Order: sequence, then structure tokens, then C-alpha cells
Amino acid sequence: MPDPRIAIVGATGAVGKVALRVLEERNFPLGALRLTASQRSIGKKLSFKGEDIVIEETTARLFAESDIAFISANDDISREMCGLAAKNGCVAIDDSGVWRMDMSVPLVVPEVNADDIDAHKGILSIPNCSTTPLVMALWPIHQVNPVKRVVVATYQSVSGTGAAAMAELDQQSKDLLAGNAVTAKQYPHRIAFNVLPHIGTFDADGYSSEEVKMLRETQKIMHAPELSVTATCVRVPVQISHSEAVNVEFERPISPEEARSLMGAFPGVTLTDDPSNASYPMPIDAADSDDVFVGRVRKDVSLPNGLAFWVVSDNLRKGAATNAVQIAEEVVKRGAWLREGVS
Ligand code: A2P
Repeated sequence: MPDPRIAIVGATGAVGKVALRVLEERNFPLGALRLTASQRSIGKKLSFKGEDIVIEETTARLFAESDIAFISANDDISREMCGLAAKNGCVAIDDSGVWRMDMSVPLVVPEVNADDIDAHKGILSIPNCSTTPLVMALWPIHQVNPVKRVVVATYQSVSGTGAAAMAELDQQSKDLLAGNAVTAKQYPHRIAFNVLPHIGTFDADGYSSEEVKMLRETQKIMHAPELSVTATCVRVPVQISHSEAVNVEFERPISPEEARSLMGAFPGVTLTDDPSNASYPMPIDAADSDDVFVGRVRKDVSLPNGLAFWVVSDNLRKGAATNAVQIAEEVVKRGAWLREGVS
């Protein structure tokens, strides 16, 4: 089988740039690599393995000449481009929230539900960057002691919003330290030296769209429609890596030792759990790493079957680009390309 021809839509963005690095690091077998972005970037160049690649327009022809496209731009682009890709024989791996809950679109974390890929109809979705680390930590325990209920509070970095939000945090921090006036464009309030309990839009019950995603996506990925999840999602002034404080109720009691050994043995999870020596996962350590880091594992003393832990993961990597590239690797391994006869 020839190596797949890959396109990245949104290659200049926070996730797109990391996807380029991840393809390079994993030595992904490439038949070709094409990059697209908005009109303002067309003609600019990005470097891949020492060679310059010119950014082009996103067209039907580009998809017809590609086998797999990573799409990470915005919801409108995803709504339009994923269908266009699939129609032109190119499998779309999408990073937006547009397709995740569509019944015909597999929502995949390969370590958890890689088999769902086989059912794709041309579009595959990666989960929200706060859902992926949660299911990575829950899944190995869920196999032996099913999860009943999860209470999670997130501490999410600004790179989840994109490159413009990262620049805004930098600028606001500089302005505040210099005693200058601060402007906020990306969020309703300033994010520098602040936290915002507001990610997405609020529903009639008072939950934000990000909080609802954590419930629905976790149920879909884990094939557990009865699982309850209640989340409070918070934006914090951190550039890269999302952190989560997680409290879980299982069907039966579980000791912290057993939980540590199950999570620690799971591919893609690293335990950093020696709090008395100030060793626990932190965004500054997780950034630029593909693993999901778990620590502070302890009994939740408010419940007979409860466990509490802390999870940190690079939202641009396992939360987005790395997960997308892992899905592409599975698509290739399974021969699940559209041109190989997916109906
Ligand atoms: P550009 O850099 O030219 O604006 P982020 O998530 O960091 O905000 O990045 C969004 C990405 O989506 C950028 O690469 C941006 O390109 C890209 N983008 C925006 N509009 C389009 C479009 N119409 N077609 C392709 N890519 C787009």
C-alpha cells in the first residue's frame, strides 16, 4: 500500500503547528504533505524535516489529491471542509466540536476505542482537549471496576482557544507588569492574573458548553451512556496543558495502590505521584509531552467507593494533534482509507 498523502487544514494555528511537529517526530509515513490556512497565510512557508512547504488554499482538488486531512481551524471551516474532504475521497480527522456527537462520526481516543474507527464514513472526530485526559485516566480502572460518577474541575490553558489567546495572555501580562491599560478580546474578561469559570456558552441549567461536552463525549468514547459526569470548566492563565481535579465513584471500593498500578500500566499514562517530595503533575512539565500525567491519587473520603486524583496533559498534543495523528496511524494500519472502499 502506498504511503498516505496528508493535508493539514489550519497548519499555521496552535494545533496545526504541533501536528506538523508530531508527524515529524513520529516519522509518520508520508506520500505527500500539503498545508492550508486562511487567505492571509497563502504563499507563506512552514518548515517540515528541513524543507519549506508553501501554504495553499483549501480546495476540493487538494482533498481529491490527499488521503487523510487533519482539520483544525474553526467550527465553520470544519462544518464545510469535513464533508468536502469525505466527498473527495479524503478521510477528515476533525478537531472541532461540530461532529463529535454525530452518530455517524466516531469520536476516538485510540488507547480507549480504536475499534470505533472501522465504522467511519469519511469523518472522524477527536474529543475536546479536556475530555481526552479524563478518559485516558478513567478507562484502565473502568475495565475492572466500572465508573459510576465523575466530578471534575478543570484548569484549562489559553492555547485551547488558539494562537491569538496565547498572544493575548503574553501581552496582557506585559501590560499589567508595566502598569499599562489592558485590553481583552479573546475572553469576556482579562485572563492574565485571573481565572474565568466560563468556557463556551451557558445553557438553561447553568452549565457551559465545555462542561456539557465533558459529559457527553466521555459517555460516547467509553460506550457508557449511564455514566454521570458533572464538570466545572475554568480557564487559567497558563499557556499550554490542561489540569483536572477528578473525583470518581466506582461500583466497588478501590485502593489508591490498585488505581495507581492500573493507570501506571496503561499506555500513554505516566504516574507522577510522590506528593511528600513535591512530585505531582504540573502544566510546565506536561507541556511538549504526549503522555497524560496522573498524580495525587488518594481515597475520596466522602464516599465508600471513591477515588480522587489530579490529571495534567498537553492540550495541543494528546488533547489534539497527537491524538489526531494516532487516529491517522490507526486508519492506515486498518486500511480504513476511503479509497480502499469505505461505503
Ligand atoms: P491563519 O493563520 O492564516 O489565520 P488557531 O486555532 O490557533 O486560532 O488557528 C486557526 C487556524 O485556522 C489557523 O491556521 C488559521 O489560518 C486557520 N484558518 C482560518 N480560516 C481558514 C480557512 N478559511 N481555511 C483554512 N484555514 C483557516
